Amino acid sequence: MSSMVQIKVPDIGDFKEVEVIEVLVRPGDTVAREQSLITVESDKASMEIPSSAAGTVKELRVKVGDKVAEGSLILMLEAGEAAAAPAAAAPAPAPASAPVAAPAPVAASVPAPAPLAAAPQPAPGSPSSTDFATEMADRPVPVGDDGAARSHASPSVRKFARELGVALGQVRGSGPKGRITQDDVRGFVKGVMAGGGRPAAAGAAAAGGGLPGLLPWPQVDFAKFGPIERVEMSRIKKLSGPNLHRNWVTIPHVTNHEDADVTELEAFRVQVNKENEKNKDAAKLTMLAFLIKACVATLRKFPDFNASIDATTGDAVIRKNYWHIGFAADTPNGLVVPVVKDADKKGIFEIAAETAALAARARDGKLGPADMQGGTFSISSLGGIGGTAFTPIINAPEVAILGVCRAATKPVWDGQQFVPRLILPLSLSWDHRVVDGAAAARFNAHLAALLGDFRRVLL
Ligand code: COA
Repeated sequence: MSSMVQIKVPDIGDFKEVEVIEVLVRPGDTVAREQSLITVESDKASMEIPSSAAGTVKELRVKVGDKVAEGSLILMLEAGEAAAAPAAAAPAPAPASAPVAAPAPVAASVPAPAPLAAAPQPAPGSPSSTDFATEMADRPVPVGDDGAARSHASPSVRKFARELGVALGQVRGSGPKGRITQDDVRGFVKGVMAGGGRPAAAGAAAAGGGLPGLLPWPQVDFAKFGPIERVEMSRIKKLSGPNLHRNWVTIPHVTNHEDADVTELEAFRVQVNKENEKNKDAAKLTMLAFLIKACVATLRKFPDFNASIDATTGDAVIRKNYWHIGFAADTPNGLVVPVVKDADKKGIFEIAAETAALAARARDGKLGPADMQGGTFSISSLGGIGGTAFTPIINAPEVAILGVCRAATKPVWDGQQFVPRLILPLSLSWDHRVVDGAAAARFNAHLAALLGDFRRVLL
């Protein structure tokens, strides 16, 4: 036998009238006694109102935004014989709604994600919880801080998120005052499973949307505002984009800038090229070739820049005792990075000839995979084009990349007067997991000193 029961707001202490900020059940849901039905909030705190009986929700009598007080009807419940309770259950106090009010206890009470066995069974055809857990494990969450303590969510939503292994700090709340609802957690999970969390995913996600805690990528009908043209990305761009995206998002980049005085070096380069004008066998000496040689000498002195993180354990650095230097080459189809192998064993003419040949093959689309593999450090030179500084993206699994901009004559104080000097701007991006700022500053200072007096490369 079943009977219809009115579930009402019980005695809520000092609060006369509170706002419903969340409705946790829907008509047709089966609820247990003590299960939370709604969350209400005053200007001081939020609390969940539990059900005083078990049964099936027949009709909701409140909605988000309603004001309720003791005795307000929440819902009609079809209750079983034994289910109806004589008295309304007391509300369960929830953490204070203002995140700043009690951050520490909330953080302390957030347990680790529940084991997979506790996760709800996915519907047939839907992605498995294992897939989801794997996806979650891939996500970058700062150690010891998933942002949950600062998130604004009721205990039931926190429990729901824990069961799914979702870090609440990554979920954007759509409720009043940014409160995170169950639907927000569900939407977040759907977004991840649809591929939005994978940096390499196609479509809008690859364009930057779908990252944890971020708004979805704007979907705009550009044609509404003016004529448009859709241009397919080149194969190189389609391949390099997801790599660049992963590197930019996952590597903690820092870029240190330095000026190198290349007045003498450039004069020497021009002089040698002039001397070789009539020698068809001599390659044209380029600033890039000198840079590669100077970088090798600097990398030998600072081996952590010629290294990779041990990807199997993540807790060691693999220093490489070979120096294969990649250089970014701009081609009509996009950016490629051919590699000069064993640059430490080659002379400057040889490196200049090799970079010219590799760049020509790159522009003709004739580089093979072997030409672009094995790099230990990269140089991206925009010097022939312009610029004063930029922040190159590290070419994983390398840990550093040197950006080079256009050299310009500048007044430099020599202790007595300003003198015109040719200054080459260097921008070194490095992985803060492997090296630190002091090492990067020393690396740059050493490199600049070598370029300032190239004889030092021999030392
Ligand atoms: N400052 C001032 N002038 C520079 C310079 C610098 N840092 N580097 C080169 N130049 C000048 C050279 O002197 C040369 O002039 P010249 O013909 O009068 O001698 C001219 O620029 C062209 O230089 P060149 O040496 O032929 O080429 P390069 O070595 O500068 O570049 C590549 C070769 C392959 C690196 C270049 O063609 C390229 O693709 N650069 C773009 C890399 C890129 O896109 N990076 C961005 C990645 S996000």
